[in-house]
Amino acid sequence: MSQNLTIGLFGFGCVGQGLYDVLQRSVRFKADIKTICVKTRDKKRSLPDSFFTYDKRTILDDPHIDLVVELIDDADEAYHIVKTALQRGKNVVTANKKMIAEHLGEFIELQRTHNVSLLYEASCCGGIPIIRTLEEYYDNELLHEVSGIFNGSSNYILSKIFNEGQDYPTALKKAQELGFAETDPTLDAGGYDAKYKLVILAAHAYGIRIKPEEVFNYGIQYFATADLDVLKSAGLKVRLRPVARKLNETEITLYVIPEIISRSHKLYAVENEYNAVVVEAAFSDQQLFSGKGAGGHPTGSAVLSDISALTYGYKYEYKKSSGTVKVRYSTSVKLPVYLRVQHADSVEELAIENPEIIEKDGVYFIFGEIALEELIRRKKWLEDNRIFLAVLSSENRKLLEEVLLEDAVAV
Ligand SMILES: NC(=O)c1ccc[n+]([C@@H]2O[C@H](COP(=O)([O-])OP(=O)(O)OC[C@H]3O[C@@H](n4cnc5c(N)ncnc54)[C@H](OP(=O)(O)O)[C@@H]3O)[C@@H](O)[C@H]2O)c1
Repeated sequence: MSQNLTIGLFGFGCVGQGLYDVLQRSVRFKADIKTICVKTRDKKRSLPDSFFTYDKRTILDDPHIDLVVELIDDADEAYHIVKTALQRGKNVVTANKKMIAEHLGEFIELQRTHNVSLLYEASCCGGIPIIRTLEEYYDNELLHEVSGIFNGSSNYILSKIFNEGQDYPTALKKAQELGFAETDPTLDAGGYDAKYKLVILAAHAYGIRIKPEEVFNYGIQYFATADLDVLKSAGLKVRLRPVARKLNETEITLYVIPEIISRSHKLYAVENEYNAVVVEAAFSDQQLFSGKGAGGHPTGSAVLSDISALTYGYKYEYKKSSGTVKVRYSTSVKLPVYLRVQHADSVEELAIENPEIIEKDGVYFIFGEIALEELIRRKKWLEDNRIFLAVLSSENRKLLEEVLLEDAVAV
């Protein structure tokens, strides 16, 4: 049954203002934003002062506010706001992926205990409706894999490198100027943002609850001209690809690692700040969802959809976690990889299986297999040595070998 909601909004930045615009322009749906809590007192606002408060209690203590929409940029403070709101019997909509990924288990319990609903469609890939799709549409489908491009800023950087020949620092600066990138570039380019989203999607796709720090993420920061030259000659590209893959009936693996892809790959044409999710299932096969993963209006639209869902009492049921077959997270998987290193002895350091080393112009290109467990153990070493690492298929490995062996030396 449809119900009117009185909203207390936290945050009036990019997404908060985007939501306000979207609400103003939505013809059929009317919701009442009663109070907006922000942080900075002397900021110029586009709405009258009477809307704003600087004290979170004005919203949290207000018995007439039944829905808290949390859109601030501070994950720790957001956690306290969301937890308190749920404990006080208020429904919550949020876009904060870090907070959800880190506290999902506790939030699920709070929803049950206090009979409230917490929705967070906007936390994963902005305007792409993927959480409810996994939760509802794929509730009984056998999902083999959920992957994609979950971070617009790293995809924008890779697009500028591959399509315009920009170097990494120039492309990163441009992404920051355009507002796509976080101030700390490691969050985007290092795969952390994508990892938070992966952890959330895996909970809805497979019913698996895992802490983000348990999942391996490796970024695109160490991608260099030497990689670009060889990849372009082979007609290949790189995408930063988060993957949740079913290994067997009871095991799922998760990781975020750059992947070398060819023109036939579903993610090849997804460029710039766009996001995409590829769902691979037993019966529906591969499906690609793509769209704007960030920005005030696309993200505001996902928040609006959650608000609207609450008017008819929607809750995530976390159906997959209540099934009879429990799945567990596994790192016992071997990945076919490409590495570009300065020293051939990196092979021993990294325990690469069946390695093939090709030296070209004083740079060593290594192909082989690495266990995900080894990567987790050696992440710091990889980063300290600024090694570029990517996953690739055997077909793409062959293409790269052909390019490299034209005038290079197999070691
Ligand atoms: N931007 C996107 O495209 C996008 C996409 C998907 C998800 N998200 C998520 O959406 C959330 C908001 O992002 P955003 O880009 O809108 O951030 P933003 O533009 O930086 O705005 C942040 C807002 O939060 C307010 N704020 C910060 N700390 C606060 C506190 N302790 N109490 C009350 N208000 C506080 C700020 O107040 P002042 O106005 O006073 O500074 C500001 O209005 C984040 O979780 C982000 O990860 C963003």
